[in-house]
Amino acid sequence: MIDLTPDLRALLGDLLRERRDEIIDHGTDWVIHSAGDLQGRAPRAETRALIAQEFDAYSDLLLAGDPTKRDAFIEHVTSFRASHDFKISTLLRGFLGFKRGVELCLEGQVAAPELALAARDVLDRLYHETAFLMADVYVDKLLGLLRRTQQELLHREKMAALGGLVAGVAHEINTPMGIAVTAASLLHDRLSGLAQAFTAGELKRSSLAAFLNDGREAAELALTNLSRAAELVQSFKQIAVDQAHGAPRRLDLGAYVQEVLTSLAPLYKRGGHRLDLHLGAPFDAHVHAGAIAQILGNLIQNAVTHAFVGDAPGRMDVRLRLLEGARCELTFRDDGRGMSAEERARVFEPFFTTRRGQGGSGLGMHIVHNLVTELMAGSIALESAPGGGTCITLIFPQNT
Ligand SMILES: Nc1ncnc2c1ncn2[C@@H]1O[C@H](COP(=O)(O)OP(=O)(O)O)[C@@H](O)[C@H]1O
Ligand SMILES: [Mg+2]
Repeated sequence: MIDLTPDLRALLGDLLRERRDEIIDHGTDWVIHSAGDLQGRAPRAETRALIAQEFDAYSDLLLAGDPTKRDAFIEHVTSFRASHDFKISTLLRGFLGFKRGVELCLEGQVAAPELALAARDVLDRLYHETAFLMADVYVDKLLGLLRRTQQELLHREKMAALGGLVAGVAHEINTPMGIAVTAASLLHDRLSGLAQAFTAGELKRSSLAAFLNDGREAAELALTNLSRAAELVQSFKQIAVDQAHGAPRRLDLGAYVQEVLTSLAPLYKRGGHRLDLHLGAPFDAHVHAGAIAQILGNLIQNAVTHAFVGDAPGRMDVRLRLLEGARCELTFRDDGRGMSAEERARVFEPFFTTRRGQGGSGLGMHIVHNLVTELMAGSIALESAPGGGTCITLIFPQNT
């Protein structure tokens, strides 16, 4: 706060009280003249009203030491401006207008020169104080605005992704459902034919045999495709990460990973593939255990179906360790065929699969990504090159 000597207070008091209009007029002229972007744009009355507001705010501060009006004024202009494209210099110009107005009036004043100097000094200090204050408040508001905008964008992006997902789901389910419907209607036709022949007493042994054959084929086709559709629905349900993974629980993470890998052994033992587990010192973690099991399942399944293509058995390697800052690192590595640049760029995309029509849904890695980043608040990194195997690193907090 600015302390005034009694002489200075008297001088400024007289000036501010008696020459209010003059100061405001001078200030308005100065602002309009100095601000290229205001010239011919904002009507003079508008600029003048603003300077008048500054005048009241600052004379209260100067004479009564009361910053209430000044703070309210800064709050007002910065709030209003934060939602527009506005420069901090423009905000400060208002104060400079007030300052210039007072200075111009001081020049004509027959006061002691040292008093006039002291008054200028006070105005200078007030200017600096205002500049810092305004910058702080303004930047704070802009940051708030930025954060809100960012959240809105994220939300919009999620909604757009969801829209794409729904379209993808419809598209993916369409094929098996279409085949199942065709097979079922074929069966239906054959059944009517059979019923007609039977009622008319014309049923021949050969046509019954043909019916049994076609009927079994159609039923099988319907069944496989309906189960395929059901499987897809099951995977779609998992995309929503907050579904059915249970609450996080505290456990010895290494022991748990070991248990999960053992239970997944049938996935890879059949092909003669090998999996090694490397555990550092044991530690407890409070984590979404169900999600971890599902992630490991997906990664192993992918290694077996995508990575190990030739006849030679593949090798996988899982590592778990505790990092600094109470974070867990889980690495999965295979020595399979690796991924092309396109695969690498798109693995996490929903429905991206190089095995369409051969059991691939393209949802596995998308689900893994969602589980790690959303449910477990962690991150996922992928390294892979053609012929060089694939390495996937998950980092997530030890305590969820
Ligand atoms: N370990 C891996 N090695 C090589 N390619 C992989 C591996 N894991 C995933 N991919 C590639 O990423 C694609 C997407 O994987 P994913 O989302 O699990 O879908 P899906 O397994 O249904 O194809 C796979 O189709 C494959 O091209
Ligand atoms: Mg997969």
